[in-house]
Order: sequence, then structure tokens, then C-alpha cells
Amino acid sequence: MGRQSKQHEPIEETFDDVLHAIADENMPEKSIAARPFVKWVGGKRSILNELLSRIPQGYTSYHEPFLGGGALFFALNSEKAYLSDINFYLVQTYRAVKGDVDRLITNLKLHKKNHSLEYFQKSRIRLSREQDPTKVAALFIYLNKTCYNGLYRVNKSGMFNVPMGKYADPAIVDEDNLRACSEFLKNTDIYQHTFQHCQPEKGQFYYLDPPYHETFSGYDGSGFGDKEHEELAQFCRNIDAKGGYFMLSNSDTPFVRELYKGYNIEVVSASRFVSCKVNDRNKQNELIIRNYK
Ligand SMILES: C[S@@+](CC[C@H](N)C(=O)[O-])C[C@H]1O[C@@H](n2cnc3c(N)ncnc32)[C@H](O)[C@@H]1O
Repeated sequence: MGRQSKQHEPIEETFDDVLHAIADENMPEKSIAARPFVKWVGGKRSILNELLSRIPQGYTSYHEPFLGGGALFFALNSEKAYLSDINFYLVQTYRAVKGDVDRLITNLKLHKKNHSLEYFQKSRIRLSREQDPTKVAALFIYLNKTCYNGLYRVNKSGMFNVPMGKYADPAIVDEDNLRACSEFLKNTDIYQHTFQHCQPEKGQFYYLDPPYHETFSGYDGSGFGDKEHEELAQFCRNIDAKGGYFMLSNSDTPFVRELYKGYNIEVVSASRFVSCKVNDRNKQNELIIRNYK
């Protein structure tokens, strides 16, 4: 504990502005800033500035084991990154964006052309049967952009079962951003596994954004309860013992505070959607916990 962090200036409010401000400051070699290519429950848009102002200095590699939409990963510009998530389809999709973006875009254009309620429903079934990784990725992005609120939920047989959302013109193909993401992902290793499979080493920086305690945790069939939160706290102690850095975001509950007693615990205010209406948000406290100052 007790390492010094780099202070970022507070920057603009909207996500696109944030990304462009960071791009101007820290990414002179890139012409287009990349932003998350999927909508993701628990995406870190609303506390991105808070996270960016708490990045440690001088870490050797960036690790994000609860990747989701990867808001912080895309906002940083780490030389080398190790990205992972438990979600098989999500990880396949990152790999296709990284390695086969042209064919992915061609497939997405086809989905855009065919989009209808019937096509959406058939695509949900096709997702679990498709063998070609790039076609899996195109189906996953298509369903993510057209389903209700970008939710990912599966039934007992592991089949994606979120209903179609009500969008007049869903943004199914964002070609420029997909190409920018593909470029951004060049120096990454992307894996499908649980956080317990990561092996922390000295100097590495881990950003941990698990399903929050006492909130939605149905990202995949296995769930994320008190036991997993305890294992995660143990994992963080291991990072600390090895001489790495960790920053974790989670709900502000007595259970979480107890788990991380002795570390640097700060409260931040985040806006959360409370219904499907765009402006219907409220502010809630969340915790950012680090093993450095
Ligand atoms: C809060 S979301 C991460 C959001 C992400 N930071 C963003 O900006 O979009 C949590 C993620 O953890 C993943 N997950 C759930 N249980 C997991 C586990 N045991 N190991 C690794 N990933 C897990 C979910 O699939 C989900 O993508």
C-alpha cells in the first residue's frame, strides 16, 4: 500500500468528449478514439473520470478480468493489456473485432439489412448454434444493439433470451468505431475465464469491476454472491502481496467495506438508470478501493 497515483485533470462530462479529450492528451499517434462497441450493464461511463484520476503511475501492464464493455480499457491507452471475462460470446466478439474486423462488418451489414422481429428471434437461436467465431461475434453485436437495453441474459439451457428493444434505428454497424477498436486491441491478450485464473505479478495494474454486491449479477448462469466477493477480496490481497496495484469498484455496503478494511476506500457518486427512460436516473454512492494512494 501507499504508492503514489498520477493526477488527471477533471475533464468534460459526456463520454464522447471524455474520450476525445483523452485522445488529444495521451494518444497522439491515433486518429480516432475507440469507445466500447457493446452496451453493457454496469458499464463505467458515469464514474470514468473518477477512475481515470486514480490510475497508478509506472505500472508494467494493464489487467481487466471483468471486462464487459471495457470502458476504462478504451479510455486508457496502456501499452500492453490482458483482458478477460467469464462470458464466452463477449470474449469471442472481442477477438473477432481484434482479428477479423472486415468480415465482422460485412456480417453486421447483413444483419442490419435483415433486421425485423422475426429475424431478431431467429438470431437468438442461431447465436448458440453458430460455429464460425466471426459470425458469432456479428450475431452477438447485432443482438446487443437491438435487444432490450443491451442486456445479456440466458435461460437454464444457456440460450440468450432477452426480448427485442424498441429502437427506431438501432446503431447496428458503427464501422469507424469497430475499426478504431480493432486497432486499439492490437497489443492485447484476450481470454475467457474467471478472475481466479489470473496470476498477479509485481508491477501489474488490475482494474476490477465485478457484478456489484447486492445488485444485478445475472451476467452469466453462475451468478456472483458473497462467496465470490470473498474470493475476490482474497485475490486483491494476493495482488497486493505480489507488489501489484489494484483498483476495485463496488457497491457501498457494510459487507464490502469489511472485506477491504485497511485499504484505501473512497466514496464516489454515480448516476444510475432507475427505469428505461433516458433521463430517469438517480445518484448512488459507490466505492473505489485501492491498495495505493
Ligand atoms: C460490471 S460488469 C463490467 C463492466 C465493465 N467494466 C464495463 O465498463 O462495461 C461485470 C462483468 O464481469 C463478468 N463476470 C461475472 N462473473 C465473473 C467471474 N466470476 N469472473 C470473471 N468475469 C465475471 C460479467 O460477464 C460482466 O461482463
